[in-house]
Amino acid sequence: MWRFECDYTEGAHPEIMKRLLETNEEQTPGYGEDFYCGQARKKIQDLCGRADADVHFLVGGTQTNATVIRAALRPHQGVLSAESGHINVHETGAIEASGHKVLALPGEYGKLSARQIQEACQAHYTDSSQEHIVQPGMVYLSHPTEIGTLYSLAELQEIRKVCQEWGLWLFLDGARLGYGMAASGSDISFRELAELCDVFYIGGTKVGALFGEAVVIMASALKKDFRYMIKQQGGMLAKGRLLGIQFDTLFTDDLYLKISRHAVQMAEQIRDGFQKLGYSFFCESQTNQQFLILSPAQIEALSEKYSFSIWEEVDQEHIAVRFCTSWATKEEAVEELLADAAAIKTQA
Ligand SMILES: Cc1ncc(COP(=O)(O)O)c(C=O)c1O
Repeated sequence: MWRFECDYTEGAHPEIMKRLLETNEEQTPGYGEDFYCGQARKKIQDLCGRADADVHFLVGGTQTNATVIRAALRPHQGVLSAESGHINVHETGAIEASGHKVLALPGEYGKLSARQIQEACQAHYTDSSQEHIVQPGMVYLSHPTEIGTLYSLAELQEIRKVCQEWGLWLFLDGARLGYGMAASGSDISFRELAELCDVFYIGGTKVGALFGEAVVIMASALKKDFRYMIKQQGGMLAKGRLLGIQFDTLFTDDLYLKISRHAVQMAEQIRDGFQKLGYSFFCESQTNQQFLILSPAQIEALSEKYSFSIWEEVDQEHIAVRFCTSWATKEEAVEELLADAAAIKTQA
């Protein structure tokens, strides 16, 4: 069975496993105050071109989103997100459980636009009952989005402008950031993120790490007491060095982007191969997630050898499915998948 249902079906990149073993018997201080976390922090600051960035290491994506959002918002505020945003649909109400409403807007291709944010704020502040309604306090973007699409630099700049106009924090969820940066046509790097976002995170769990996300805080007001917030949310790993070693490795010799490029290349082979065979796509994606439209018979046939996610029903005879690649996807798995896809093309 070849697994394509998500991008965390493998363990960690061998280089990370090697460094974890090499450092296994070393004694270090706990809670992220060790040498390796310090070194990883410095590498991330250098990539961002900002020595003043605060970098914290957390364990998983939901925990990171909940901690950042809770730390940033005042009690009466909520967070604007695309309807398809991970915090709105796949985090079991983690944000709401912290007392903050997710203010969902209909996204286009999984993205929010500056205009939508502007309109949402305008609607709020011109409502005579505004004080009876949750106030927008933050914008949450995922990049890549949950359907593999990307913001352009120009779009992000416009969103930043609107956020400044209305006093909103700009938070970017980069659970798959590497796969976004490695995508062809992507024009956003760490430097732009550091310049435009108040806070963002660099995903490790889906991009070669065993686990871990690196939160980068740019806005001074959000830096204060963030470690208290991590601890209170249960996110402060006692053996924090495990996170430091992983991010230090990912940001040595450009490993993070190198392995991300591999995943994107594998996804491009899937996309181009299915396209050549005449399959239809649910949406366009330049990143490591590809969304195809298959018939129930095709799904049944492919499921014998491959796992992939059922995304949503398109109509009674067609279902959108997601194939994900990762830093570890084998070319032979992609080749087999395409050969089998060719064999079942005519199955309605
Ligand atoms: C965009 C995005 N953010 C956050 C997460 C949450 O990550 P975790 O499963 O580690 O909580 C995911 C997981 O799929 C995701 O796709």
